Amino acid sequence: MSGSIYGKNFCISTWGESHGKAIGVVVDGCPSGLELDEEDIQAFLDRRKPGQSRFATQRNESDKVEILSGIFDGKTTGAPISLLVKNQDQHSNDYENIASVYRPGHADFTWTQKYGFRDYRGGGRSSGRETIGRVAGGAIAVKILATLGVSIQSYSRKIGEIEISDERFDFNESKKNPFALPDVQIIEKVEQYVQKQMEHQDSVGGIIECKVLSLPVGIGEPVFDKLDANLAKAMLSIGAVKGFEMGDGFASANLKGSEHNDAFRLGKQQAIIKTSNHAGGVLGGISDGSDLVFRVAIKPTASIAQVQSSVNQNNEEVDIQIQGRHDPIIVPRAVVVVESMAALTILDLLLQSMSSRLDKIQKFFHTT
Ligand SMILES: Cc1cc2nc3c(=O)[nH]c(=O)nc-3n(C[C@H](O)[C@H](O)[C@H](O)COP(=O)(O)O)c2cc1C
Repeated sequence: MSGSIYGKNFCISTWGESHGKAIGVVVDGCPSGLELDEEDIQAFLDRRKPGQSRFATQRNESDKVEILSGIFDGKTTGAPISLLVKNQDQHSNDYENIASVYRPGHADFTWTQKYGFRDYRGGGRSSGRETIGRVAGGAIAVKILATLGVSIQSYSRKIGEIEISDERFDFNESKKNPFALPDVQIIEKVEQYVQKQMEHQDSVGGIIECKVLSLPVGIGEPVFDKLDANLAKAMLSIGAVKGFEMGDGFASANLKGSEHNDAFRLGKQQAIIKTSNHAGGVLGGISDGSDLVFRVAIKPTASIAQVQSSVNQNNEEVDIQIQGRHDPIIVPRAVVVVESMAALTILDLLLQSMSSRLDKIQKFFHTT
C-alpha cells in the first residue's frame, strides 16, 4: 500500500491504525535550529482530541505525544522527527457486528474489494485517528511558518445550513465554543440543530474556511505543483472532505470577468497590491501576496445509529445498526486538521520555491 507520504521538501509519513497499539508520523526535511518540544505539538493535538464536548465522540483518548527522534538540546537537528501517540480507549468489540458488513459512507466496501480483507476495528487506517499524524506534523510546519510571519486561521463557516455572518466575524470566538464558530450569535441555533439531529440518530456536515495571512508572493509552481492544486489534494485527502474551493470558488462561474478580476494598484511604498481578492490569493498557481482564502466541505458523519440497508461479504442484503462512539459532526474536530494540512502544503512549496532564481541561490551560497 503506497500513498502514506505527503510532501517533497517538508515531508510527512503517517502510520498506524485506529485500534492498533499506537499511531504517529515521521517528519522529514525539517530545518535544524527550530526550538521544539512536546508541548508545541500537544497544543495542536488537544484541539483535535475526542471527547471534548457532547457534540464529539466520547472515545476517551489523552492523545499524549512522545518525540522519539530529531531533537537535541530543545532544538530540531535536521534529522527525521518521529512522533508517537499511544491508543488507549479502544472498544474493538463494538465493531464485531460490522466485521463482515459494509457500513454505508465508509471505506469498508472499497477497501475489502481492493485489499481482500480489512482491519474493521474503528475503520483501521481509514479512521479519523489517522489525522493525528497530520496534525502532529502540521504543528511543526505552523511553528516554522510563524517564524516567517505567516499565520493561519481556520474555523467553521457553516454547520448544516447555518452560516456565520462576515459582519460579526471574530476569530477569537471560534476558540471558545465547541463548534469552532467565529460568530457568537449563531452558536445557540447550531447547538439546537445538532442536538435535534442527534435525537434523530442522525449526523450533520458543514464547511470549514481557512485563511493564510501574510504569505509572501511567489509560493507555488506554475504547472503540476500549483499552490491551489496542492491545497486541493491536501484537503481532499482528509476523510469526509467532499469539496474544495479557493476565493470565490464555484460562485466564480456566475461572475463576469469585470466582476471577478482583482485590479492592481500601488499601495504603501509603491508596493503592488490587489484591490479585491476574488482569486483567493493565488494567480497562475503562485501566491500573489493577498491572504489565501479557501473552503472545505465536510460531509455528515457516516456512522449513524439509524438502521441502514447494506450488503455483507457473502453478498446477502442485510440491515445494519452501527454501535460505537462517533462524532455526530466532524467539522469542529477537522478544523485543526485543515490548518495542519494547509501549513504542510505551504511550507513544502515555500521550501521548493527557494530554488526558483539563480541570483537568490548565488546570494544564499555567497557566490556573488
Ligand atoms: C477528525 C476526523 C474525525 C472523524 N470521525 C468520524 C467518526 O466518528 N465517525 C465516522 O463515521 N467518520 C468519521 N470521520 C470520517 C471518516 O473517516 C470518513 O468519512 C470515512 O473514512 C470515509 O471516507 P470518505 O468520507 O473520505 O469517503 C472522521 C474524519 C476526521 C477527519
